[in-house]
Amino acid sequence: MPQNILPPSLKPNWIGGHFLQFRRSPIGFFNELVKLGDVSFFKMGGQPAYLINHPDLARDVLVVNAHKFHKGRALLRAKSLLGEGLLTNEGASHLSQRRMIQPAFHRERIKSYAAAMTDYGAKMADEWQDGEVRNIDKEMMRLTLNIVGKTLFDANVEDEADEVGAAMTTLIELFDYLLLPFSEILEKLPIPHARRFNRAKETLDKVIYGFINERRASGEDKGDLLSMLLHAQDEESGAKMSDEQVRDECLTLFLAGHETTANALTFAFYLLSQNPDEEKKFHGELDALFPNGETPKPEDYPRLKYTEAVFAEAMRMFPPAWVLGRLAIEDHEISGYKIPKGSLVLVSMYILQRDERFWADADVFQPERFLHENAVKEAGQKFLYFPFGAGVRRCVGEQFAWMEGVLLLATLARKWKLNLLPEQKFGLSPMMTLRPKYGMRMQIQKRR
Ligand code: HEM
Repeated sequence: MPQNILPPSLKPNWIGGHFLQFRRSPIGFFNELVKLGDVSFFKMGGQPAYLINHPDLARDVLVVNAHKFHKGRALLRAKSLLGEGLLTNEGASHLSQRRMIQPAFHRERIKSYAAAMTDYGAKMADEWQDGEVRNIDKEMMRLTLNIVGKTLFDANVEDEADEVGAAMTTLIELFDYLLLPFSEILEKLPIPHARRFNRAKETLDKVIYGFINERRASGEDKGDLLSMLLHAQDEESGAKMSDEQVRDECLTLFLAGHETTANALTFAFYLLSQNPDEEKKFHGELDALFPNGETPKPEDYPRLKYTEAVFAEAMRMFPPAWVLGRLAIEDHEISGYKIPKGSLVLVSMYILQRDERFWADADVFQPERFLHENAVKEAGQKFLYFPFGAGVRRCVGEQFAWMEGVLLLATLARKWKLNLLPEQKFGLSPMMTLRPKYGMRMQIQKRR
């Protein structure tokens, strides 16, 4: 029988309770909570919340009993932007959409997107100048946004529609406000944040509906994601997507498909700059594979083993999606504790992927952990490593992201070494995604 007692908790602040403690330092707060046990308790505003900190319990929530949970508040709130896109949709409708979208991300299909990845990577590598300083977080965002624009709409987002980039940046910046208490109300007030947010949303809607109308009118199959979405049909029901559904999926893929990868790349370059031995090995692989300074090609992807391990290790230490939230839609029991319907259940890959019980020298950057064949898969099966989530809600763009991350690291580092500026502060901003708090200004140094 589940115990009716609550799991251990921290003493709440007398003003603002746990919520303020969480807001002040989400990771610090979680690190304190997990010291209390594999299940701990706190209150998020008025809502009971349970932090789960064991691979078996994470599997229980995300896979075995996934049907007892919906997405947490953050994604529920994101519906005001993303509608019924894959990230925010639930239940049978989510499964139907997922069946229609998944083929666009099959291995063979993704190979056709790889050329856009190396082309844009090479273009950026050509733009950079020896000795100059760049905001690498912004550069990576620009790069991945261009790539998703090209693969999704066959559009040159940078040249053709600068407004897309600007609107996307605004949305990402303001997305975090959706997490604030009373954000439902704030969103409707004529305050500057809400106005900027709505304006950015309108801009993107205009552009995306423009793409949809154009493509429907021409009937052309350009082999990009948009064509796939417009032609997709649910095998079971035979249903096709409405324009509104295609819009929701486009915006979802646009947003989910670039910021996370950009953050992973930024952290990878940061970690390399702080670990010269590993950086040498990484550069060594590139020099061996591209002795004459050739630009990496899509078919080089399987040979970039050390590069892939660097990307994997960067996402172990700094998972771009650092926490998963779930809302219990029925009562559940975890480790003997009753989790009542309406509670929030949280699993943090940031905390679990640095847990010394499962990872030796967890705070040390060691790409070697992921060098042997199947290392990522095996760690995933044990639920020790899950930067892309798990179960029915597992990231649909995972293969896309691996290929993009690895090819871009190789394409940029083949030519350039990135050095952190001595005055650059490092910190984390764990909100909707995990980002470097103070940006990432780095100096570009020519390698060859
Ligand atoms: C390093 C890069 C990426 C990381 C770390 C990442 C991480 C994740 C995670 C953890 C989830 C699950 C969220 C949850 O269960 O609540 C997810 C879902 C999703 N991701 Fe990614 N992602 C990345 C790149 C991408 C890319 C490139 C795309 C598309 C082009 C994408 C599209 C999506 C979508 C549509 C979902 C929702 C899937 C569903 O609920 O069925 N992601 N991602």
